[in-house]
Amino acid sequence: MKLTVPCLLLLLVLLAVAGLSRAQVKTSFLDLTNSIGSILPGLSRPANHSRIFYAVMFDAGSTGTRIHVYTFIHSDSVELPVLDNEMFHSIKPGLSAYADSPEMAGHTVRMLLKVAKKTVPRLEWKRTPVVLRATAGLRLLPAEKAQTLLDKVQDVFEESPFLVPDDSVSIMNGTSEGILAWISLNFLTGHLNAQTKKTVGILDLGGGSTQITFLPKLRKTIESVPLADYVARFEIFNSTFELYTYSYLGNGLMAARLATLGALGAEGLEWRVFKSSCLPKKFRDEWSFGGQTYQVSGDPDGYAGYKLCYQEVLKVVKGIIHQPYELEDNSVFYAFSYYFDRAVDAGLIDGVHGGMLEVRDFKKRAKEVCNKMTKYPPVSSFLCMDMTYITCLLKDGYGFKESTVLQLTKKVNNVESSWALGATLDHFHHLKIH
Ligand SMILES: *[C@@H]1O[C@H](CO)[C@@H](O)[C@H](O)[C@H]1NC(C)=O
Ligand SMILES: *[C@@H]1O[C@H](CO)[C@@H](O)[C@H](O)[C@H]1NC(C)=O
Ligand SMILES: *[C@@H]1O[C@H](CO)[C@@H](O)[C@H](O)[C@H]1NC(C)=O
Repeated sequence: MKLTVPCLLLLLVLLAVAGLSRAQVKTSFLDLTNSIGSILPGLSRPANHSRIFYAVMFDAGSTGTRIHVYTFIHSDSVELPVLDNEMFHSIKPGLSAYADSPEMAGHTVRMLLKVAKKTVPRLEWKRTPVVLRATAGLRLLPAEKAQTLLDKVQDVFEESPFLVPDDSVSIMNGTSEGILAWISLNFLTGHLNAQTKKTVGILDLGGGSTQITFLPKLRKTIESVPLADYVARFEIFNSTFELYTYSYLGNGLMAARLATLGALGAEGLEWRVFKSSCLPKKFRDEWSFGGQTYQVSGDPDGYAGYKLCYQEVLKVVKGIIHQPYELEDNSVFYAFSYYFDRAVDAGLIDGVHGGMLEVRDFKKRAKEVCNKMTKYPPVSSFLCMDMTYITCLLKDGYGFKESTVLQLTKKVNNVESSWALGATLDHFHHLKIH
């Protein structure tokens, strides 16, 4: 027994050195001017494994369950830790598809926990928290069914070797979702630590809900919100950030498809066929979301195309999405999740690097896809509907100008663009979201 202790210590020291040097490399990407200065002290500093810690965050979304395993390093100079690494994995469908078979939901989580066991060193398991936050998929389920699923996840957590904190499994509200995504992106882009007042806004498009969050420059933006719910605050570095944020439940991409098809809450799913001029005329198929299966088709005797499709999706946006007073051209918006995925499917951006797009690029490509889909079927039969909805949401919904540039992104410095990182920082730092 005694012989193994020095070996373990050596291993830990090696791990710590590896971790620290990787972190320094990443720092140099963020701050090129200081790169030499920040690498050298790092190497001369003795490795200290107690500075490294891990966290496991599950994102239970409407279309999938994802695990994020973060490796952090405590930092002396700033309040927030340095993020060293993220391991990410996802499984489809989401937990809400198992509303009537909670065992399967438990199985999903158990499978994903294997990723955590592979990533986190065994000695760290006991002090590594596992947390699951559910979003629109579970918000849309009857409360009783959602609770059964959460209880099942709690059981799976309890039987795992990880630390299960109080409130480790819960449904998160849309306000937190928007704020935490904003925190993630501003942390990853270096705007949170720098204590500059310059930040980036976020646009998140999930399956069930969609979020917009930014730090307004004008007082009027806060004063002109339709409900107090559109403003939320959180505290960090002894200062309070007051954000414009809103989560529209039912305006995620999949929920919007349902609403466009007129299938939201509809009865008679066994025999009804839901038609849309956003689908190719001869298309007919089954489509599942949230544990329900729908018969969907194009309109074989009618017209298909962008104009008619736009009228259909407009009903899902008009009178629902509030236009913020200020959406200044000089504040950068990062758009991710389905904004990113559909831009890739439509061939607008590269699936690895993402890129900048103007709002009008979505519109132009939506027109092309919709007006040619009978002759040239797109990769996904829903591409016309999705691209048109995104165009409508940005233009007639939020009121972005066609010339507004969005930064389409999946990862920043190799870390997923998602609220999950913000939720993890909140877990360790109690950012007092209110
Ligand atoms: C390692 O870091 C911890 C926490 O920062 C500190 O308490 C401890 O004294 C350090 N140990 C060494 C050997 O530097
Ligand atoms: C925050 O305020 C406390 C108490 O006033 C002070 O001790 C601490 O240094 C402050 N932290 C920062 C990051 O300014
Ligand atoms: C959302 O949840 C947070 C944290 O649990 C809470 O502080 C906040 O009041 C909630 N907001 C709304 C609008 O329900």
